[in-house]
Amino acid sequence: MEQGKALERAGTLRAQIRAHDHRYHVLDAPSIPDAQYDLLFHELKALEAKFPELVRSDSPTMRVGAMPIGDFSPVVHAVRMLSLANAFSAAEVEEFEARVDEMLGREDVEFSVEPKLDGLAISLLYENGALLRAATRGDGETGEDVTHNIRTIRAIPLRLAAGAPPLLEVRGEVYMPKKGFEEHNRRARERGEREWVNPRNAAAGGVRQKDARIAAERPLAFFAYGLGQVSGGRIAERHTDTLTRLRELGVPVSPEVDRAVGAQGCLAYFERIGRRRDSLPYQIDGVVYKVDLLDWQAELGFVSRSPRWAIAHKFPAEEALTRLLAIDLQVGRTGAITPVARLEPVFVGGVTVANVTLHNFDEVARKDVRVGDTVIMRRAGDVIPELVRVVLEQRPDNAMPASIPTQCPDCGSPLARIEGEAVIRCTGGLVCGAQRKEAIRHFTSRRAMNIEGLGDKLVEQLVDAGCIHDIADLYAIDLRMLASLDRMGEKSAANRLAELEASKSTTLERFLFALGIRDVGESTAKALARHFGSLDRILEASERLASYFVDPALIRSPEQKKAFAGEPLMAVPDIGPVVAQRLWSFFADTRNREIVSRLRAAGVAWPESEVGRHVADGPLTGQTVVLTGSLSAMTRDAAGDHLEALGAKVSGSVSKKTSFVVAGTDAGSKLTKALEIGVPVLDEAALLGLLAAHGRGP
Ligand code: IVH
Repeated sequence: MEQGKALERAGTLRAQIRAHDHRYHVLDAPSIPDAQYDLLFHELKALEAKFPELVRSDSPTMRVGAMPIGDFSPVVHAVRMLSLANAFSAAEVEEFEARVDEMLGREDVEFSVEPKLDGLAISLLYENGALLRAATRGDGETGEDVTHNIRTIRAIPLRLAAGAPPLLEVRGEVYMPKKGFEEHNRRARERGEREWVNPRNAAAGGVRQKDARIAAERPLAFFAYGLGQVSGGRIAERHTDTLTRLRELGVPVSPEVDRAVGAQGCLAYFERIGRRRDSLPYQIDGVVYKVDLLDWQAELGFVSRSPRWAIAHKFPAEEALTRLLAIDLQVGRTGAITPVARLEPVFVGGVTVANVTLHNFDEVARKDVRVGDTVIMRRAGDVIPELVRVVLEQRPDNAMPASIPTQCPDCGSPLARIEGEAVIRCTGGLVCGAQRKEAIRHFTSRRAMNIEGLGDKLVEQLVDAGCIHDIADLYAIDLRMLASLDRMGEKSAANRLAELEASKSTTLERFLFALGIRDVGESTAKALARHFGSLDRILEASERLASYFVDPALIRSPEQKKAFAGEPLMAVPDIGPVVAQRLWSFFADTRNREIVSRLRAAGVAWPESEVGRHVADGPLTGQTVVLTGSLSAMTRDAAGDHLEALGAKVSGSVSKKTSFVVAGTDAGSKLTKALEIGVPVLDEAALLGLLAAHGRGP
């Protein structure tokens, strides 16, 4: 593409991406699936990579991944960032109203009522509509410049819609939606990594990273709740109208903001939100009432650090006392040992809690948790229960400190701790029953080899009965073995075997993910498969790394770092030294290599491509293909792999640029669209013919 065209296309893509960001974060009404958004994003990134002169600092691609910065620079707030006084009861809210009424000499004052988000206060300074600087609250007078991290948050516009005053400082809360928080912790648990304690810490930690690439990985969001400095002084006469105006400028505002009259109206809102608290997608710890008319706010003014015109009405703390009965050890798939406190069951925040993770032994020591202690449990923001602290005054004389274990509770292997990591791990690898079961469960899971019929129970039975010891043994299971298990009918046994058989035909990315290599999740597996195209090339690339990792202290000297950066593995998008080290140590272990060989010998196979998926001069290079409907000779994924190996780009949506559509049975809207806009359509037979002509096929 010549530069003029590229410039035009980049402009279109940026406008589209901005519009989708706005629909997603401000209007909460996305109009395209995430995958399609990703396509736009990648196209823009590719264009900007090809024509660096097109890159602009407010491009949506510039959100991700700046280099680490040194210390944060201080930012002096032009208008002080205040905090709010708290009310914990209806009576305190009524007193607040009485004070406001008296000072204003009025009754039935209107308030803005809003959720009190549990995150981190941020100031966003926009100059002529462009995000100039973002800062934390700090001590209210001086905060820290965290622009590099804030730019990675998709909810925060890098540019405001037309009509913003020349200088506009937006203030609001950066928070982590519950979903992102829970997903991260689920993944961390699976990988034996450290979990986030609560969404607020996770958000605050993200914003205060030195390295924006880490912040970029955290699913953070933002809601505005007010203004700092503004040229012209204000943008509306009322606080609620200010927020509406901000929303029009493209800034996300909580959809829960409302108006209420007097303390009674505020309390009714408090009740309403309280009932819905659990189902809100983010954590709130109360609500905030603010006198709505800005002139009246000015009349009321401030006392010390808080405005007289606003108050935070906090939900009662959801805490309860209970006794810690024991500290058990759990062994995860990667051998991570997690201390878990068993509790006398206690009702807190709407659920009964009988155990709580203590995360790791640093945490146990920090909180000085002992068996026999009385502890305060909190259901932090309705997400996960958390042990807040020990009630020392109630510690019995015989309370037992937890000793750091040295042996795996499952297999007795020694435990090891890598320098700098909080996690203690079992060194037993596949010798360890607990790790084996977890590894096999992971291997069979839907997104891995998809042998879901085997299920957790059956895996457990098979391991306990000594029928299987590792993932490769799965393919040696026979009817006799299955029939010998409790409650296993003949028909069901035959079905399980058929599922096992079917799972053998897979894709490289699923296989890599299924191996359960630490830190190799689905997207890393996909990146590896795309880049290398074959398992042998991945093994080769990881073997080359041996020289760096004989000393597990990783790569320290600048020369080594430089050499390491040139390694083929490091050329894979998203792979850094940590994942490279994980791959190397996994494949360097002969037990793992043997398992891989046995799996292949058992018939586990996937289509491999000659030089990875980026085939620059294959017979289909330059063609964009869309696959739809179901195929009978192979899966759509496998067909996509073949096409990509021949140089084609496989896309998820049909457009005028699509070269052809492959339509299997039950093809739907994509086929209709192709026919409508005149894109050629191939059926399965034609596809197989095309593949066969280039020496590929099922
Ligand atoms: S207004 C002068 N509104 O709570 C008023 N604050 O203690 C300044 N917060 O630092 C804040 N949701 O981080 C306001 N809807 C909301 C809020 C909110 C959360 C936080 C904010 C502030 C703290 C006040």
